[in-house]
Amino acid sequence: MPAGPTRRRTAVLISGRGSNLQALIDAAAAPDYPAELVLVLSNRQDAKGLERAEAAGIPTRVVPHRDYETRADFEAAVTEALSEAGAELVCLAGFMRVLTEAFVSRWQGRLVNIHPSLLPAFPGLDTHARALAAGVKLHGCSVHLVSAEVDEGPIIGQAAVPVLPGDDEAALAARVLQAEHRLYPQCLGLLAGDRVRVEDGRAVVQGDWDANGRLLNPDPRSLR
Ligand code: GRF
Repeated sequence: MPAGPTRRRTAVLISGRGSNLQALIDAAAAPDYPAELVLVLSNRQDAKGLERAEAAGIPTRVVPHRDYETRADFEAAVTEALSEAGAELVCLAGFMRVLTEAFVSRWQGRLVNIHPSLLPAFPGLDTHARALAAGVKLHGCSVHLVSAEVDEGPIIGQAAVPVLPGDDEAALAARVLQAEHRLYPQCLGLLAGDRVRVEDGRAVVQGDWDANGRLLNPDPRSLR
């Protein structure tokens, strides 16, 4: 049998539910997807996402941050697990630890995160409540290469969803989460497929673009 295309060895770091991890697992099940998941690492033993990884036959590791005196010691243990797994790319998917500059620069260009807002708006926590309070009409999510500042770094892709009258935090979070599950696999695919280049601190995605897409909210077609 001829050897298939090389798939980039990818680790996913989680702390909880792992629904984005599941979206990556599902995408990586396609034989032509350019990334394969070789490790799921959690800083919490009780992370639900570990069960998803086990069900998919992906090796898991738990590195409890509380077992380490310093952030650097914790990250050294994470780095060791990543290199044992031969990881080339690392996806943060609801990983709730802030990473040091040393770790981030070691993985520069190969470490991605998903954040539940249209960055640079609403970095940090409670993004959906803040979007509602600000009255924005479009909200969404961003996948970006990680730099030393929290929720900063070259943006690979974004997905927008409308904020609808009557939305509460839970309704908006659920709508954004659906968009996250489409966006993250797509962006990891671009990165693993060598279609992302960083120029002047911005990510440029290679491909043929159709510039005619439009996104309006309120969209006159949806108002009756
Ligand atoms: C997602 O909303 C993600 O954007 C944020 O943390 C949440 C993780 O959810 N960084 P899950 O664990 O992937 O279900």
